[in-house]
Order: sequence, then C-alpha cells, then structure tokens
Amino acid sequence: MTQDIHSILTEERKFVPPKAFTPRRIRSASQLESLRQSARSDLEGFWGKLAKTELDWQTPFSHVLDRQNAPHFRWFEDGNLNVSFNCLDRHLSTRGNKTAIIFEGEQGDTETLTYHTLYERVCRFANALKKQGVGKGDRVILYMPMIPEAVIAMQACARIGAIHSVVFGGFSAEALKDRIEDTKACCLITADGGHRGGKIIELKKTADRALELGGATVKNVIVFQRTGKTVPMISGRDHWWHEIVSDCDVACEPEWVNSEHPLFILYTSGSTGKPKGLQHSSGGYLLGATMTCQWVFDLDDSDIFWCTADVGWITGHTYVAYGPLSNGATIMMYEGAPTVPDGGRFWKICEKHRVTVFYTAPTAIRALMKLGDDVPNRYDLSSLRLLGTVGEPINPEAWMWYHRVIGQSRCPIVDTWWQTETGAIMASPIPGVTATKPGSCTQPLPGIDLDIVDSEGNSIQASDKGGYLVVRQPWPSMARTIWGDDQRYVDTYWSQFDGKYYVAGDSARRDSDGYFWIMGRLDDVLNVSGHRLGTMEIESALVAHPCVVEAAVVGFPHDIKGEGIHAFVVTKPSETQQDSDIVETLKQWVVEQIGAIARPDVIVLVDNLPKTRSGKIMRRLLRSIACKEKISQDTSTLENETILSQIRAAEPN
Ligand code: WTA
Repeated sequence: MTQDIHSILTEERKFVPPKAFTPRRIRSASQLESLRQSARSDLEGFWGKLAKTELDWQTPFSHVLDRQNAPHFRWFEDGNLNVSFNCLDRHLSTRGNKTAIIFEGEQGDTETLTYHTLYERVCRFANALKKQGVGKGDRVILYMPMIPEAVIAMQACARIGAIHSVVFGGFSAEALKDRIEDTKACCLITADGGHRGGKIIELKKTADRALELGGATVKNVIVFQRTGKTVPMISGRDHWWHEIVSDCDVACEPEWVNSEHPLFILYTSGSTGKPKGLQHSSGGYLLGATMTCQWVFDLDDSDIFWCTADVGWITGHTYVAYGPLSNGATIMMYEGAPTVPDGGRFWKICEKHRVTVFYTAPTAIRALMKLGDDVPNRYDLSSLRLLGTVGEPINPEAWMWYHRVIGQSRCPIVDTWWQTETGAIMASPIPGVTATKPGSCTQPLPGIDLDIVDSEGNSIQASDKGGYLVVRQPWPSMARTIWGDDQRYVDTYWSQFDGKYYVAGDSARRDSDGYFWIMGRLDDVLNVSGHRLGTMEIESALVAHPCVVEAAVVGFPHDIKGEGIHAFVVTKPSETQQDSDIVETLKQWVVEQIGAIARPDVIVLVDNLPKTRSGKIMRRLLRSIACKEKISQDTSTLENETILSQIRAAEPN
C-alpha cells in the first residue's frame, strides 16, 4: 500500500524563529534537545518526574508505567488525584482573582469568570449532579453550546468522578441517541439552545427527539437557560440548571480517583459505520494536556489563550476545558460562528480581549483568507504573539497568509499534529526554537517516539515516499481503550505491526531535515473541515433511506473544507419517482441521521456501482471520478466496465 504514497508537495521555504518572539518555557534548541535526550534515555523517569512536579496528587504514585496489559498501558497507576482540583483548587491561593474565562456570546454579550468564581460554580453544579444521583463512574452526556457552562459541567463531572461524554451540538438526534446508548449514560446536560450563525440552535428539542428514539438509561435531563426561548420540560425528568443549583453549597470535596480512572469518553469516526468511543484517563491525560500547553503554546500567567475549537471535539477538551486551566491560564471562549455579523469577528475578538495565543483550524483560515486582507487589517492584532493550527494538513498558501496577515510576520506558527486517540499534541514546532516550514508539523515533542515505517515496519528516513505514521512507545495521554470494546481498540490501532506500534491511520513522509509532513488518512475516513467522518458512516445513513439500494461515498479536494463529500447512490426507481428532488431529500436525510457536518456536497444517482467480480465496490475508481482525474488504475477486475462511462455522464460539471 505504501508504495503508492508519493508526495506531490515540494515546499522549500523555511522560516527561522522570529526575533520578536521570546520563548519562556523551552527557551533554546539545546534545552529542547536535552528534554528529548532525557526522554530517550529514560522514558519513565522523564514522565514520572513531570507528573510529580506538574500535577498535584492526593496519593503520590510509586510506579510510572505498567506494560503488563499492553496495549492497554497504565500510567501512574497507584496514584490518586482529581482533575478538577488540579484545574481549580490549586490555583485559588495564588490566582483566585485572576480571570479564568473570558466569554463572548455570538450576540455580543460578555462574561468574565475568575478562578474563584469558576471554582464556586463548578462546586455548585457538582453538588447538583450528586443530588440527581450522579456518582463516581456514572456516564453523563453533554450536548451544549460553547458557553462557560459547558466547561463548568465537564469540570463538575471530573470533580465527582463521573465520566463525561460530550456530543458536538451539530450532531443529530440519531447520533446523540447512539452515543447515549453506547455509554449507557444516566444523565444528559443540555441547554434550551445556543446562538450560532445568527440562528438559535435548538439543542433541547434535538435532545428530546433523541430520548424519544431511545436512550432509556437517561433518568435526568439538566437544561441550562441560554436563549430564554420556551422549551417543553417533562416533569420529573427535566430540571432547569439554575433551579437545581440554587440551594447547593459552593464547596464540594473532590472525589479522589485513581490515575487510570476514566475522565471522559469521546466518539470519533472510524472505517466502520459505528463511531468509536475513545476512553481517556485522568492522570496521564492531564499530564499530556498540561505539558503541551507549556511546550507548544508557551503559556504563562500573562497569556490570553484562545482555542476556537468546540468542546465537542478533542481539541476543545484538551485546549479549552483542561490544559490551560491546569496551567492557571486565562482562556477566551466564543459561542458563535466566525462570520457573524461579518468575517472580521475573530479578529475583532482578538483585538477587544487582547488575545495573545490564537489556535484554530486550517478550514477557518482558508474561509477567512478568501474574504481578503482588508478584513483583518481593520483590527489591531498587535496583542497576538503566537498562532497555531490543527485538524488537517495546512496548505502552504493558507499558512503564508496566516503568517503574513494575521501574525504580521512576527508570530511563530505551531502546526500541531495529534488525534482524539493521542489526547494531546504529539508533533509540533517549539515556538521561538524550531524553524518552521509551511505545511509541516516539524518534529515530535519530547517523550513522543513518533516514526514513519514501511509495510514491514522498517523505519523510512528522508524520502519523498510516504509510510505509516506510528508511535513506538506509550505516552501518558494516550487513549486507554474503546469504551466497551477492548478488542476493537487492539484491532484498530495495534494489530498491523503485531502490537509493536500504535498505528495512527495517517500517512506521512520525512524530509532531509527530519521534518514530518502529514499526507492524509490511510483508512476510509474523510477530513471535512477538520472533522473526521467515516465514509461507511455516511453510506449506512444513506442506505437506511427507503429509496436507496446502495451507496458509495468518497472524498474529493475542496477549497474551504479540505475534503468534500461525494456520494454515488443507486435508488429504487419505483420509490424515487414520487420525489421530484430526491438528491436534496437524501442530503437532508444524511443531516438528520448524522448532522450538518456530514451533508454530502454532491450526490450522483447511478444505475449501478463499479464492482469487482467478487462484488466489492471499487472505491478508488469512484474517487478518481469524484476528483475529476483520468482513470489510470487497472479496470480489468471490474465486473461491469460500461458502468464507468455511465457514471461519468451522470457527474455534474
Ligand atoms: C488530521 C484532531 C495534518 C490527521 C486533533 C489526524 C492533521 C486527524 C493535523 C485527527 C495536522 C490533525 N496536520 N493532519 N497538524 N492535525 N490532523 O481526531 O489526519 O479530530 O489523524 O483530532 O486529523 O483528527 P481528530
């Protein structure tokens, strides 16, 4: 497979660290090298020392890493701690009056929470959860807008040892129901709605629908009042947030949990139709989140850190809800869309709140770049000192624009590679230390043994040939398993090289400076606007429609989204005739089944799909068609060769 991976990107530009940036955490190349060296010579000693000095433990651990149950590694196993204590209580004496969260709603309302206020609100809500019968190990689903209460609810779960699973507010009732059922959650936390794109997103309504479809384990629904719009409340089941916290105490003793106690479950798409619930730990996860905020974002007490990701994704977990707070930093949170009321909103927020570190996705950069330089040039962006990207490979053009127009050639850019599974950033430049190249995440962080190997598992050095991106040694913030399915965890990530390496599912190559270039997914997973979507997941949604006989979904290059969704659908003629706009119906159907992010860009109706004689759909051919490429592959195994010209004829121009 890897023979086919050839890089077409030859980017020669290299940027030495800008003089204007003075790093505070890792200050020099030699300091970085000595960190790397100490991790290489004693991995356990390296992480053990950081876990002791950077986290507060109620019971210290005596053992760093347990490999007995590999690949279900265990870190700091006999230590007890509480994640919320580490994010809140330990800062109170020194940073009680420091701002923890600056919030701005889409409609312009703002709120500032100090560490002390945040602590009290988390404690109150934790007590309210306890009163609802939620306890240690119970699963709680969050379906929330991007408001401080989302972070408060996550921290409150952590405080009482409950395991949260946040479902992105753009997911459908069907997807929400599936996640409730997979986790067997007893409690659902939502809001009457949230503001996004100038509209109200009716979260409670979708949550109600999910609970009509299933999810019988949910006994209590807690509803935060955000929009004030009337929503039906089911007596006995639904409770207003403000009512249940009103008589709760503002102190709540943290539940001390084992380092390996699950902190959260977060779902992500894989190459089958069923999303995987990645289970993360408490101690190891928090250590990864804490250290990467220091190493990569160079965070200290003077920063205002804005990660634009929604808390429904891993980026919003690690770099909104946990990492910055563990470091006692100030975070910016914004509820809405980047284009409301216009495409200057992000830059206006940076100006108004004096954001110093800004972290976003390439898809947002591309969309805002299209609007022209005039828009950001209207704002004072002089508070920015560092920029970051995550979620997909950033194309050099977008990188250069980000560097020149937003960073004004003064701010380093950290292109951070990581995944839901890795819990925290794995490869990134160290700002002010590493020279950067547009489109490369440069090199692995200290303690991360990243490699690129061929199909035999041999390391590939500098080459224009790509290989499998793997991790050769465990790291503290790695996912521990797939919730309820240990075997799937082993099969998906560890089986390819007989358990020797963690296989990320990405291809990558290394250049002559030893820099890593991520080339894309190797499995049937699309990266649409930085979000992972399994083609199988969209296909199963499509075939669930009564008109559909068969469907195949592939990706194609898309200007803004990175990858677009292209579906080939075989319909039942009898049923389809009833509907004059079956293509639109099917697009809407996918939105209802999964969510708006999965809406196909193109649906082409075809009589049949290209298949091998054994009946397998030949997706690579479909991919060539969707990408408007010439078919260079061998089509001799095709059972129905004439189908290709038929499909081409059906394609939109
Ligand atoms: C892709 C997001 C290139 C990659 C934190 C990975 C990237 C998937 C980068 C994980 C990057 C993430 N350069 N590709 N800097 N960052 N990816 O789980 O394919 O939503 O496997 O985690 O996004 O997506 P996930």
